[in-house]
Amino acid sequence: KKKVTAKTLLQMKAAGEKITQMTAYDFTTAGIIDTAGIDSILVGDSASNVVAGNQDTTPITLEEMIYHARAVVRACRHCLVVCDMPFGSYQVSREEGIRNAIRIIKETGAGAVKMEGGKEIAETVKGIVDSGVPVVGHLGLTPQSIHKFGGYGLRAKDDAEAERLIEDALALDAAGVSAITLEKVPAALATKVTSMVKAATIGIGAGSGTDGQVLVYADALGMTQGFKPKFLRQFANVGKCMTEGVQEYIKCVKEKSFPSDAEAY
Ligand code: KIV
Ligand code: NA
Repeated sequence: KKKVTAKTLLQMKAAGEKITQMTAYDFTTAGIIDTAGIDSILVGDSASNVVAGNQDTTPITLEEMIYHARAVVRACRHCLVVCDMPFGSYQVSREEGIRNAIRIIKETGAGAVKMEGGKEIAETVKGIVDSGVPVVGHLGLTPQSIHKFGGYGLRAKDDAEAERLIEDALALDAAGVSAITLEKVPAALATKVTSMVKAATIGIGAGSGTDGQVLVYADALGMTQGFKPKFLRQFANVGKCMTEGVQEYIKCVKEKSFPSDAEAY
């Protein structure tokens, strides 16, 4: 299978082939997901929650994102690796955003960066794209702004908010993004945006009308405890599988059946 690039996403949109994306933050998990045949792995700043156990994505640093992305890139032979730019790494100025996007590409080998926001970051996005770095936008529920919004509810519910989201999507499209993540917005709005932009749309909690879908791997594979929003489907129960494996290990050690003579030197 040919290596997926940011450009491939546009070709897939044109061909009507759904884009599959899942997060990963480490070498071992990324290797499993890439080998399974995914189109893209997102090194999400959700690593802040999933890996570090924080309440939100705001604390994770650029250095930490680079550490995760390097590990993921080392495992990926086929899929496109997209690395989230963490909170604070592109909001201060256009120059700082460009410098940090270039750092991510140089130090990790990722194929694109992802940034949250619309019109307010469009100039920065354009500068990064012009520097040669593909950008994925992210609209709707943008977790880096959690303190501003005060919750993780559905976004763009009313007409004014929906209109604003369309304007943001068009601004990102004009700035040259390769794709736009649409998180937790009404399905009809996501479908409408998908038809209006050149970029590929990748939805999470945004219905079936987007060009692709993304899920956090720990949620999709049943490893996250107590997180079951309506949009989430659990495609496997890896958490249960791991629990049973750990319990079996404990049992075998306690009853002295592990290691056996055959497992000793
Ligand atoms: O960080 C992340 O996992 C994300 C996805 C939910 C789109 O941004
Ligand atoms: Na993210």
